[in-house]
Amino acid sequence: MSTNQPPHDASRTTQSAKVPSHPHGAASPAGRHPAPPCTLVIFGAGGDLTKRLLVPALYNLAVDRLLDDGMQIIGVNHGERETKAWCDDLHDALQKFAADKASTFHAGKLDDSAWNWVAQRLSYMAGEFEDDGTYRRLAQQLGGEARGGVVFYLAVGARFFEPIVERLGKAGLLSEGDGMFRRLVIEKPFGADLASARDLNRHLRTFVKESQIYRIDHFLGKDTVQSILALRFANAMFEPVWRREYIDSVQITASEVIGVEGRGKLYEQTGAFRDMVPNHLFQLLGMVAMEPPNSFDAEAVRDKKAEIFAALKPLTPDDVVFGQYANGPGGVAYRDEPDVAKDSRTETYAAARVQIDNWRWAGVPFYLRTGKRLTARSTEISVQLKSVPFLLFRDTPVVSLTPNILTLRIDPSHGMSFDFNVKTPGAVVQIGAVRSSFDYDDFFAEQANVGYETLLYDCMLGDQTLFQRADGVEAAWAAVDGVLHRALGAALPVHEYTAGTEGPAQADALLARDGGAWRALAQAAPKKP
Ligand code: BG6
Repeated sequence: MSTNQPPHDASRTTQSAKVPSHPHGAASPAGRHPAPPCTLVIFGAGGDLTKRLLVPALYNLAVDRLLDDGMQIIGVNHGERETKAWCDDLHDALQKFAADKASTFHAGKLDDSAWNWVAQRLSYMAGEFEDDGTYRRLAQQLGGEARGGVVFYLAVGARFFEPIVERLGKAGLLSEGDGMFRRLVIEKPFGADLASARDLNRHLRTFVKESQIYRIDHFLGKDTVQSILALRFANAMFEPVWRREYIDSVQITASEVIGVEGRGKLYEQTGAFRDMVPNHLFQLLGMVAMEPPNSFDAEAVRDKKAEIFAALKPLTPDDVVFGQYANGPGGVAYRDEPDVAKDSRTETYAAARVQIDNWRWAGVPFYLRTGKRLTARSTEISVQLKSVPFLLFRDTPVVSLTPNILTLRIDPSHGMSFDFNVKTPGAVVQIGAVRSSFDYDDFFAEQANVGYETLLYDCMLGDQTLFQRADGVEAAWAAVDGVLHRALGAALPVHEYTAGTEGPAQADALLARDGGAWRALAQAAPKKP
């Protein structure tokens, strides 16, 4: 998380003669240095990820002067194209997102000088990902231009991961023998189950060391996710109760209103569980459950997270509920979406009851749920505390108390709230639940942030804290592998739910058997007593 930035190597910051240096007089945000110079090679330059997330993030980093003037960006994609046409296309997209309030980027009016700074460092290279010639040409281009190091960003479908890495390796492009760093950024999905994740890790290790691999989970790029550690470890009041003695249960939700948005073909092979649970939701669980690391050093943090994933009790069919949306106020049935089979059994909703077998969390259920076409978009973590040990108010009208709940709101609202009980004003002893709430927007200026800024910046710095390590990824798959294969073998039921609702009723049973209930999605503040 860029807390341990290496010193900036001034000897490597020679400016390119043909591109302008930073246009802004202002300095970088306090305490942050520009990343060291490097060449960023994006495989999949014509794809959605590049347009929607990588280039907007690079633009934001340029606005903040966090990129070195010696940086170059090479976009590789199949299909002949002029660099200018690629740039124009990216610029148009950037302008569109900037003006769109609903987009995470929503930067408003673009800063032309920052865009020009980025644009003048872009160059397009046509090449098939599986053609050795592409890598020969890339080697020539890098030989001439690379300063500082090279980051290869695989913004491509998973089927290209191995062929690209193999060809990069064979072309000598992953060797750090020349004193320059070579890093590999890999997007999700990292494998489709435990066996394929292990194979992919093995394959990567043939060509690169673990220290060169940056496995991205974009949830870790979200400020509100990173701040979970700040909440836990920068405040004295939470950590003492952050354990089985005081915590009853934890709910982690990532619900979406949107459907599969034209990704039917891909989604048919993935499903909600694989798409979200062993990666995004487990990452949130890891942040909540990990032991305090000794430092924010990447290995110290990743060791603690890996310990949690290794302590996950393998899920059984009784621990999961799958659902699929049917026609409803939220939209047409999943089976009527383009590229989806009429008899599809792919789940668009998944809920799981997860247990962590360790000293701190034994017996505390973590309930996870995610789904598309639900009633509200809400990514949040709710930590429910145990009831007070003794109901002092028993000779009063108070018969029960609402539990304390700490909720960390990750998306779309950003903040935290705490539900607790107070005495309501008046002569009679009555207790009412109230909510105290903190919103980032009320305290800090809103930032146009697509969530990839920190990840790109950290990768250029060589800080792997927010990236997944091989053992963590494999441990996460190991915890879900059994149910995943049963689901794929059609041995798990997939329950229908109406599009635009809270998901299948069967998911309630997961909590009901522990005496609990899901929080309503996008829950409103407690009513005035
Ligand atoms: C992606 C999934 O990884 O995360 C999508 O493939 C999902 O299906 C998305 O919609 C959710 O991310 P966010 O940041 O919009 O909550």
